[in-house]
Amino acid sequence: MKIPSVKGTRDFYPPQMAVRNFISNGWKAVSLRNGFVEYDGPIFEYLRMYQIKSGDEIVEQLFHLTDRGGRELAIRPEITPTLARMINQRINALPRPIKWFSVPRLCRAERPQKGRLREFFQWNIDIVGVDDILADAEVIFCTLDYLRSAGLTAADITAKISSRKLLAALLMHLGIAEDQLETLYPILDKKAKLPADTFAAMLAEAVANQAAVQIILKLLDIHSVGDIQTLVPDVASNRQAQSALDELHRLFDLLKAMGVADFCRFDMSIVRGLAYYTGMVFEVHDAVGDLRAVCGGGRYDNLLRDFGGPALSATGMGMGDCVLEILLRERGLLTESLSQRCVDFFVVCMDEVLMPKALDIVSRLRSCGKSTEFSYKTVGLGKQLKLADACGARQVIIIGQEYLNEQKIILKDMKTGTQSAVDESSLFVSDSD
Ligand code: HAM
Repeated sequence: MKIPSVKGTRDFYPPQMAVRNFISNGWKAVSLRNGFVEYDGPIFEYLRMYQIKSGDEIVEQLFHLTDRGGRELAIRPEITPTLARMINQRINALPRPIKWFSVPRLCRAERPQKGRLREFFQWNIDIVGVDDILADAEVIFCTLDYLRSAGLTAADITAKISSRKLLAALLMHLGIAEDQLETLYPILDKKAKLPADTFAAMLAEAVANQAAVQIILKLLDIHSVGDIQTLVPDVASNRQAQSALDELHRLFDLLKAMGVADFCRFDMSIVRGLAYYTGMVFEVHDAVGDLRAVCGGGRYDNLLRDFGGPALSATGMGMGDCVLEILLRERGLLTESLSQRCVDFFVVCMDEVLMPKALDIVSRLRSCGKSTEFSYKTVGLGKQLKLADACGARQVIIIGQEYLNEQKIILKDMKTGTQSAVDESSLFVSDSD
């Protein structure tokens, strides 16, 4: 019976694994150079952890199970609730600011589509305990630092930035009740994912005041902070909106000072689907706009408190590997050489009686830290050289007649094709000698 792989999952054969490692090694290197330290948590948590604050969309996409002890569990769809739980547990012992990163494997029972699967890897960076927009700027900078180091330019990607604080102030200014905001955010977040008239109809159903609906629709199309004043003329009298606008101005000044202003743009339509965001929100999108978001994040000042901890502010970002890989491939930034095998030596044994000598050389080279391969069968030279080529061997060591006659081995450089008879001892000269 043939068993297929599960819908929305991937098998990582060696070439795919090489790409996955290339991406996650890049994420890790950039996190470390930006001062983040690594953490991880369990692959499953109590189901109720995600029901507290992640929002309906994530709850609907949970893979959940009941364990043998009757505990209701869920495979993690994101790691932010785990981070909040872990920080709350050790809150007094952790040096501040807390700058943590992680690359967890996550599962969401989403409809599989281009860039969205049921199992994926997600780079997370989070800064906890800094109630200053400077931390938000650093999260955006670190995100762009990675994307830029991967070879993407401001012509390829845009960081679209907005503020839930600003949106909340404007919506309440338009007469929307505060307790309605949380149900409205996931609807507003759908703007880019739905046809315009479907989205407008959904909004008209959620908001009773149709005049407000028309202003909200126009608000979401704003790409310049100055245009808010034109649409909502008395915004200057709204203290909450003004303070959110001041914060946004400072954020853009900081991003300019950090040298990433070219990548950044204000965009009121960025709302984010998750329930816990309270301040700056952002997503990175491909410039063409035909892919889902490359990443998303923002400030979430109440999550730790909602999880029974202190009122500690936090800001962060999550980037999946799927859209990123599509984008890097489309831009020619994933080279074929990534998945090509490469070893320092391939040892060719030409005679069964010399196999113990060949194995001795292989094991000593490996102990010296040199990657070394050999053939399990003493087939002809041509066949073994083909195997060496397939391994991407830089040098081939041939143990044959010359060894039997005068204890010499043949060393062949696979790039230049040159070869010479040398003493076995010359192989074990360390790089520092
Ligand atoms: P999110 O918007 O749910 O946020 O996911 C962030 C990113 O994860 C997306 O932009 C996408 O790159 C990737 N992603 C999400 N779902 C899938 C999927 N089904 N398949 C492939 N990739 C996916 C969060 O998860 C927040 N916890 C991020 C965060 C961290 N906010 C603050 N700190």
